[in-house]
Amino acid sequence: MNLEEIIKDTIIQNAEPIGFDEFMDISLYHSKFGYYRAGLEKFGEHGDFVTAPETSDLFGFCLARQCSQVMNGNNDILEFGAGSGALVAQILFELGRLKKLPKKYYILELSSELKQRQKQTIEVVLPELVDIVVWINELPSGFSGVVIANEVLDAMPAKRIIYQDDDFYELGVDYQGDKFKWKAYSKPYNSKNILLPDNKIDGYTTEINHRAIAWVDSLYDSIDNALVLLIDYGMGRDEYFHPQRFDGTLRCYYQHKASEDPFVNIGEQDITTSVNFSDIADQARYSGFELKGYATQAMFLISLGIDEYLLAEKDENKRINLAQQVKQLVLPSAMGESFKVLALSKNMSVKLNGFKEQDLMHKL
Ligand SMILES: C[S@@+](CC[C@H](N)C(=O)[O-])C[C@H]1O[C@@H](n2cnc3c(N)ncnc32)[C@H](O)[C@@H]1O
Repeated sequence: MNLEEIIKDTIIQNAEPIGFDEFMDISLYHSKFGYYRAGLEKFGEHGDFVTAPETSDLFGFCLARQCSQVMNGNNDILEFGAGSGALVAQILFELGRLKKLPKKYYILELSSELKQRQKQTIEVVLPELVDIVVWINELPSGFSGVVIANEVLDAMPAKRIIYQDDDFYELGVDYQGDKFKWKAYSKPYNSKNILLPDNKIDGYTTEINHRAIAWVDSLYDSIDNALVLLIDYGMGRDEYFHPQRFDGTLRCYYQHKASEDPFVNIGEQDITTSVNFSDIADQARYSGFELKGYATQAMFLISLGIDEYLLAEKDENKRINLAQQVKQLVLPSAMGESFKVLALSKNMSVKLNGFKEQDLMHKL
């Protein structure tokens, strides 16, 4: 059986369309064939997409500076979905330099293939720190320190909804005539406390991420005192539900080409939706978190002094190279403005340096 057949059988057994979140879940996380479980090269030049830690070490160095405000010699870091291991290596390297290493660096990774890759990265780059990195399978209890999730919320399976016949309906996935097809459910969608777009345009389609919202809530319960840094592409509700964003934010990536068709290359392409940071912030407040800051990735990195690393580089060729990487991270046309950083905290009073230059909390 392949992934398409598995999804097809799930739909047939269900006797009605499955939610897009279920389709996305199987496509990305099926234990054997899911995109993030199978042994394909995903990150970097030879993969399907490039993330910020794959773009430049300076991304992780700046995050380390932010972590260093909280590290007290007695607490830990927890990273969700650590990809190739580039970010853990960058953060530990820089925290080592700043003499602010965590006691443990926990990684919660769903893919065993990626766990192996992360181990190899650390063994090669920081063999002396291998012992402080620990892989875990579920949220720890009573965690204290910094929680990091870079491009994780966007990979959580989302629902799609469509406005038609004077109401919003969930847009599920059906299987007809040997093909996967979008199909609206017969009953109007019930959002349970989540705000829906207030524009009423026939055919308007967007996404709602219940799983990301539930994740924020369970995270609150499992930490004692911690700072949470969520970095992802996304925006506040007004922009997310803008009438011009008529087809929502669903994107698929296959060998660096973006498409909007999740029904091709199933299990071989990444599927993502942008993060509605207002929904995340609303849930965070409701769970009990304090909101500590919200800024574009560019301003967050600039606030943490990304330019200082450039100025400190004496070798001209290396500096030119670094400048290229910095552009990629901060220019609005690249990752600078589409990516945002949202900081949450529980039982922690600290004014974060990452939001010195900009705080866009009013946009949430
Ligand atoms: C786009 S990749 C980003 C990888 C890495 N953070 C980076 O920036 O290169 C998304 C990652 O999020 C992970 N992920 C999604 N949902 C998760 C969850 N609930 N817990 C832990 N990891 C999760 C996926 O397995 C995948 O490794």
